[in-house]
Amino acid sequence: MCFTFDNAFRRLFHNPQKILGPYVSPGLTVLDLGPGIGYFTIPLARMVGEKGKVIAADIQPVMFKTLSRRAERRGVSARIVLRLSRPDALEVAESVDFVLIFWMLHEVPDQGRLFRELGAILKPGGRMLVVEPRRHVKAEAFEKSLKIAAEAGFAVAAKPRVAFSRAALLTAS
Ligand SMILES: C[S@@+](CC[C@H](N)C(=O)[O-])C[C@H]1O[C@@H](n2cnc3c(N)ncnc32)[C@H](O)[C@@H]1O
Repeated sequence: MCFTFDNAFRRLFHNPQKILGPYVSPGLTVLDLGPGIGYFTIPLARMVGEKGKVIAADIQPVMFKTLSRRAERRGVSARIVLRLSRPDALEVAESVDFVLIFWMLHEVPDQGRLFRELGAILKPGGRMLVVEPRRHVKAEAFEKSLKIAAEAGFAVAAKPRVAFSRAALLTAS
């Protein structure tokens, strides 16, 4: 299904610059968790610039093939680090300034474990944008995820509007 997640139609309603621009600036280290084929990874790599870094961590190695080919073509592959996560372990040890979790959290069976791991690598003052598909993730389920995040030390700083989605900007509390 992820292979359908980057096309001209999507760009009409999920504008990466509009969604991520307020949080990402040159020089930052960003984690794109569950990047799929890199719909947001490549714009993120442009936003962090030559001095920044995007860690793209996914559990499906098949995603990396397409992602790296697209990154090469767009001249941003040097800023992207591909990381194979495990369903029960992030496998990211670097400190990061910003985490994007776009349409993947509902696929994670132990969200508490994930949020605790993210809490350990997010820099003080760092932010995390969690976006879930509105159709698959009902309001109660999303609120439950935010409660789990709160138990792991995250506070909701804002609830930005993202098309077809439920979204929350989290900070370490
Ligand atoms: C629906 S796709 C979303 C892709 C991308 N974020 C987007 O918005 O186009 C979900 C992605 O999350 C990945 N994923 C699922 N569970 C994961 C986990 N525990 N750690 C890292 N990636 C995971 C899947 O392999 C898949 O690539």
